[in-house]
Amino acid sequence: MAATIIDGKAFAATVRGQVAEHVAALKAGHGIVPGLAVVLVGEDPASQVYVRNKGKQTAEAGMASFEHKLDAATPEAELLALVARLNADPAVHGILVQLPLPAHIDAAKVINAIDPAKDVDGFHISNVGLLATGQKALVPCTPLGCLMMLRDHHGSLAGMEAVVVGRSNIVGKPMAQLLLGDSCTVTVAHSRTADLGAVCRRADILVAAVGRPEMIRGDWVKPGATVIDVGINRVAHPDDPGKSRLVGDCHFDSCAEVAGAITPVPGGVGPMTIACLLANTLTACCRAHG
Ligand code: GUN
Repeated sequence: MAATIIDGKAFAATVRGQVAEHVAALKAGHGIVPGLAVVLVGEDPASQVYVRNKGKQTAEAGMASFEHKLDAATPEAELLALVARLNADPAVHGILVQLPLPAHIDAAKVINAIDPAKDVDGFHISNVGLLATGQKALVPCTPLGCLMMLRDHHGSLAGMEAVVVGRSNIVGKPMAQLLLGDSCTVTVAHSRTADLGAVCRRADILVAAVGRPEMIRGDWVKPGATVIDVGINRVAHPDDPGKSRLVGDCHFDSCAEVAGAITPVPGGVGPMTIACLLANTLTACCRAHG
């Protein structure tokens, strides 16, 4: 294996430590405690794990954590009323409504009801527009975490050829905007791209966010490229089908033989997402207090 392993777990711990220091200074100097409200509708097991981790890490950073768990049958109007209350609550600086929402709720309507200044997911249409036009936005946490790892590894990204595989609103599209903002030449590819392998092989920076386990193999990677694997896929264990394991969108072993640097799964992009959520909450709090 030739590639340097980019340790997202360690980097995320550093970011959380920096956030905690700022929070302590805000508290000591101004009596301000940043607050994050997380709203979970229903009992999706993966979402419950995420929400538990978010609550724990928010508290560890010294922030106030407000959890709202609603029944899966909660009417849309009730959720919108809760969002309105959180928008008006001065102790709440960040609001996150966990996705996916039950099918009877219009997710876009709920997200766009969040005060854009408290939209720590960066999903509100105002923040999407601000990011796309290079203005001060709250930026989606997963692509922000990827950008931080890339800047940490490379310094300047200017002039690099970046290929983002995946076109989701949560990762692919904002990732492309962020890389453009750092002066990369950006291609957004996806599962329907013709000759995806040839497109990937052009990349100095290859971001995989397509949601297909181990789809990207080593022969799609340009020698020396940096590979950022956003995928988190649970698959059956090869030796014991009763057990499962987590894999990324990249086939780790073959990609690591060719790449210059690569993020592992788990322990790469995943831990950075919550660290960036805490950083966004701190940013929202600082902006709210001028
Ligand atoms: N579900 C899975 N990831 C996320 C995320 O980053 N934000 C929200 N709101 N829901 C999610």
